[in-house]
Amino acid sequence: MDTNNTSSLTGFGAGKVILLGEHSVVYGYPALAGPLSRGVTAKGEPSNKCQLVIPDALMPEQRKVLKAAFGRAMAACGEPGVKVSFDTDLPLSMGLGSSGALSVACSRVLLQAAGRKASASEVAAVAWEMEQEFHGTPSGVDHTTSAMEQLILYRRKPGAEHGRAKVVDSPKPVKLVVVMAGARSPTKQTVGALRERQKRWSERYQRIFREIGLLASEGAEAVEEGDLEALGDVMNVNHGLLAALGLSSPGLDDMVHRLRNMGALGAKLTGAGGDGGAVIGLFQDTEPVVHELTRLGIRCFDSQLAGPRTEGTRGAA
Ligand code: MEV
Repeated sequence: MDTNNTSSLTGFGAGKVILLGEHSVVYGYPALAGPLSRGVTAKGEPSNKCQLVIPDALMPEQRKVLKAAFGRAMAACGEPGVKVSFDTDLPLSMGLGSSGALSVACSRVLLQAAGRKASASEVAAVAWEMEQEFHGTPSGVDHTTSAMEQLILYRRKPGAEHGRAKVVDSPKPVKLVVVMAGARSPTKQTVGALRERQKRWSERYQRIFREIGLLASEGAEAVEEGDLEALGDVMNVNHGLLAALGLSSPGLDDMVHRLRNMGALGAKLTGAGGDGGAVIGLFQDTEPVVHELTRLGIRCFDSQLAGPRTEGTRGAA
């Protein structure tokens, strides 16, 4: 075991938001996703064995999954002598990619400890091992966005081991307000239930997945052209199709309408959705929206996904 070079290792894994194309991405269609400034930070210290410090607060089943996931990443890195702990400022279990962010953060530390290159593609390859343990049949969009830390158009053809990501540049800041709209069931469960529906009514569901894939590509073009109004419209249509697939809820719909009434160019659920989770709104100016929602006691924060950087603010999340 290698106990060298582990005195001060840290690795960050960004949370993510899916702007367009969640769920259909599992079936091989493109999704547009970008990194949050919030995420998971992992730290490594020298140890005589490779191990993860598992937070006491986790339930036995969560501990088991986390241990198994870390075991796969550890094996992929040759079990370097490092003890890894982590901390997060990302709201958990909200569809903001916390497991992908954790996978990326741990993978960065493990690769450094093993004396290997922690390039985005190396990190993504190790993180993929963990993500499969967390999610069963993930598309790979979460950990890829986290590892690349850029707005990407991501696509994974069914059966292919790895997806392809194209960086999407924006001439304008793409700013979102991210709002927590209630607890939700695990992603694995929501994805599994949709899989059952699509097996039963395959043609109808595939038609909708295909349409959502087209929206993701149109959204990427709108971003590149700096046409935020078109991007907002695509987001609205995408929310409607996610609702048609049975992936929204009264709480998510209410928040989407609230953000539109507050001037959002577009608003939709993000991530797996289902009975709760996060909603995103696209705004030119996010600050007054975060201020007002926070005043009302609604958990939210803002984030810039792409484009020239300007100073942003954050609400309590
Ligand atoms: C989860 O963040 C996104 C889903 O599309 C699942 C996946 O891509 O693996 C719902």
